[in-house]
Amino acid sequence: MDDLNGKVAVVTGGAAGIGRGIVEALLGEGARVVVADIEQPVLDVAVKELGEIGSVRGVLTDVSSAESVEALAADVFANDGGCHLLFNNAGVTSGGGGRPWEQEANDWAWCFSVNVFGVAHGMLSFVPRMIESGEEGIVVNTSSMDGGIAPVPYASVYASSKAAISCLTEALAHQLAAAGTALRAAVFYPSGGLLDTGLWTAQRNRPASLARRKPRPPAPGTTFEEFRAQLEAAGRPADVVDLRELGRFCLEGVKRGDFVIGHGLDEAAAMLHRRADAIAAGRLPPAALS
Ligand SMILES: NC(=O)c1ccc[n+]([C@@H]2O[C@H](COP(=O)([O-])OP(=O)(O)OC[C@H]3O[C@@H](n4cnc5c(N)ncnc54)[C@H](O)[C@@H]3O)[C@@H](O)[C@H]2O)c1
Repeated sequence: MDDLNGKVAVVTGGAAGIGRGIVEALLGEGARVVVADIEQPVLDVAVKELGEIGSVRGVLTDVSSAESVEALAADVFANDGGCHLLFNNAGVTSGGGGRPWEQEANDWAWCFSVNVFGVAHGMLSFVPRMIESGEEGIVVNTSSMDGGIAPVPYASVYASSKAAISCLTEALAHQLAAAGTALRAAVFYPSGGLLDTGLWTAQRNRPASLARRKPRPPAPGTTFEEFRAQLEAAGRPADVVDLRELGRFCLEGVKRGDFVIGHGLDEAAAMLHRRADAIAAGRLPPAALS
């Protein structure tokens, strides 16, 4: 899919951060974009501002709700005539990290409801419709180097959720091809430096019903500045990434037909080799960051 002009794209969590960068890049390519996000005021601002560069509309959506995502898909297929590109991008951190045994059941429930069930809901509601349309299309799922490549030990819940997304996307890509569909899947690893997004304050969208029972101070490395220091100490790029540029980078990968879209894949591969060597020897793989 190298010409996105006139194609319909849906971006979950597209009102801010990395998702907004993808939306801007899509509009720059002439795509018609539906932004699905849970934060109405931020969604309204994004649609107003981005409406100046292309065709974009917002649909208030909670990806953790199967009904909400099903309503989104029905809306898009009824009003936009289909969907060619689905970006399952919305995601949250469980908040504050910490030791695995300190994570509460509600940390798991909330993080997985958005990061894992949110992607599953997107796939369940959109993929059958996209296949049925017979048109060429793609599902891009946002994972993370944290979990998708190697877990950051103090972020065990988030890392586990992102490992699930990398695993699911690989299975999806194989099955879309094996079933002879005109669809494919890709996994996106936002990377290339420090990402100054709302992920650091993701708790703003946490429902009261899944609040943490025992508040605790954040673990080291879970603030923007601490994470920056960790990246620098690990010798990894720590410059703040231009999110518009990252969105364009993601689309270049889509247009090239890459399955894995990410900066620094050599470094990721080196990490995976170290992991494979340790696993083959029955040893604990090295920690990604700690
Ligand atoms: N920021 C990073 O360092 C980083 C690194 C790797 C991967 N990611 C992934 O990138 C994706 C985007 O995150 P970001 O960093 O741009 O964060 P962000 O908070 O800036 O953007 C996330 C967007 O998702 C929306 N959202 C949250 N819960 C939702 C829900 N239940 N339903 C619909 N929308 C919801 C938010 O309102 C927000 O607009 C996430 O999947 C995240 O895990 C981020």
